[in-house]
Amino acid sequence: MRTVILTGAGISAESGVATFRDADGLWEGHDVTAVATPEGFAANPELVQRFYDERRRALGSVAPNAAHRALAQLEAELGDDLLIVTQNVDDLHERAGATRVVHMHGELLNALCSACDARHRWRDDLAPDPPCPACGAHALRPDIVWFGEMPYHMEEIMRRLDECDLFASIGTSGEVYPAAGFVAHASAAGARTVELNLDASRGSSMFDEVRQGRATELVPRWVDEVIAGG
Ligand code: OAD
Repeated sequence: MRTVILTGAGISAESGVATFRDADGLWEGHDVTAVATPEGFAANPELVQRFYDERRRALGSVAPNAAHRALAQLEAELGDDLLIVTQNVDDLHERAGATRVVHMHGELLNALCSACDARHRWRDDLAPDPPCPACGAHALRPDIVWFGEMPYHMEEIMRRLDECDLFASIGTSGEVYPAAGFVAHASAAGARTVELNLDASRGSSMFDEVRQGRATELVPRWVDEVIAGG
């Protein structure tokens, strides 16, 4: 069963990571164009660095939940037949034990050098504007895909969607493309499609099956069914 799973902020919500568009979402109190666009970064790099520094530090006080662990268990069963595509910039899938994970919107724990394109694993703050360990330039930015930038790993993701038998979308509002278009792509490729989300997403009607509820309840149950061949 070749399977692609798309995850969004909703899978990390019960771990204590705020979602983007719910009532207490991250955008609240923050102008999106100020903190999530290249133009915002150019205009006020310190504000943007501090915003992501805060998010990076917060990773230290959250832990993977039952939904992340269930997907790691599914990976243990399916091996290379599974790809987890996450829009999330946290590292909770990996901390739960998953290894076949691609971060299409980047990672908080990476810094990207705008001068030499080197990518570094990064746990400290970027606000003090430290030099790039590779080239020495003071040009490090959070390795986050901002609005107007090209998501990562698209070639691999599209190839895997073309080949998959099962596509599941977990904890995402379906508001942001290209991820919101994956269900149509998987469907056209002949895959069975399932949505697991707290409430109806923008794309709910495109799925073969929709289950509503909390990720920590829905995902372990669904994984058990997939493993049992249901
Ligand atoms: P959103 O905040 O847009 O949507 C989160 C979804 O998760 C909503 O549909 C909620 O109903 C659902 N949800 C909340 N709590 C849940 C729970 N406990 N169990 C299951 N579902 C739950 O987040 P995303 O769809 O991930 O991009 O947002 C997509 C992208 O928009 C993000 O990756 C980010 C943002 O712009 C970048 O940073 C580039």
